[in-house]
Amino acid sequence: MTDHILVERQGAIQIIRMNRPDKKNALTRAMYAKMSAALAEGDADPAVRVHVFLGVPGAFSSGNDLADFMIMATGGDGGTEVWDFLMALVKVKKPVLSGVDGIAVGIGTTLNLHCDLTFATPRTVFRTPFVDLGLVPEAGSSLLAPQIMGRQAAFALLGLGEGFSAERAKAVGLIYEVVEENALEASVLAAAGQIAAKPPQALKIARNLLRGPVDALVARIGEEADLFQARLKSDEARVALMAFMTRKKA
Ligand code: COA
Repeated sequence: MTDHILVERQGAIQIIRMNRPDKKNALTRAMYAKMSAALAEGDADPAVRVHVFLGVPGAFSSGNDLADFMIMATGGDGGTEVWDFLMALVKVKKPVLSGVDGIAVGIGTTLNLHCDLTFATPRTVFRTPFVDLGLVPEAGSSLLAPQIMGRQAAFALLGLGEGFSAERAKAVGLIYEVVEENALEASVLAAAGQIAAKPPQALKIARNLLRGPVDALVARIGEEADLFQARLKSDEARVALMAFMTRKKA
């Protein structure tokens, strides 16, 4: 079986690459688990100075695997992998960068709210159709997005489910820079290299100051998760998920 998460080291840079191109990098429980483990292992290893999330050409991530949501919507076990990943992301001690090309849906967008620098290509569209799916914002996005981009842009993204082009995402502060497809990975890795060359202790303190305490964020992720679980069992969500799952047969 193909490995859907590839973890690689380039010097002091740990690259976590989502690699499920046939499903546009929809994230399964196993993929979340592998990403959590990589964050923890990289954080514990002094040889690693910075984490980088990448996808495949044209797809950063299409979000949580909707088949898994469907299992939860029909009373099945959702596991703890998503929660564990979000906690790993919130608690990670070293800087986190991302390089986004193309599809960035759901967690494919909200993951970047936790990153210190995100680069995206002109063809990237960030989109969080939570409400259209009968769901609610997750991954702390209901707290982080208004802080980062202001309440109205956050509502357009998380409430209306509007797609944000890379340019618009940059304008509202969701991402750091827009770079052409063929320069994406080199740009992210160059920034990661710059970070890796900084005095690590000073960088750690600076990053902690910029991020602030995470208690409120952890509490909000928990609140969102409870609401999300409840919403998954709603008729609104069941109808929307069923529409996606059966659209091929139509
Ligand atoms: N979960 C499970 N499978 C997914 C998926 C997801 N989130 N996103 C895409 N896929 C699958 C599709 O079912 C399709 O599988 P198939 O080839 O077996 O039919 C494959 O990935 C390719 O997707 P497709 O829709 O053909 O590609 P596209 O480029 O036309 O559209 C998306 C890509 C991401 C816009 C579209 O697939 C989509 O809207 N996906 C759902 C996104 C979503 O709602 N995520 C959850 C957010 S909370």
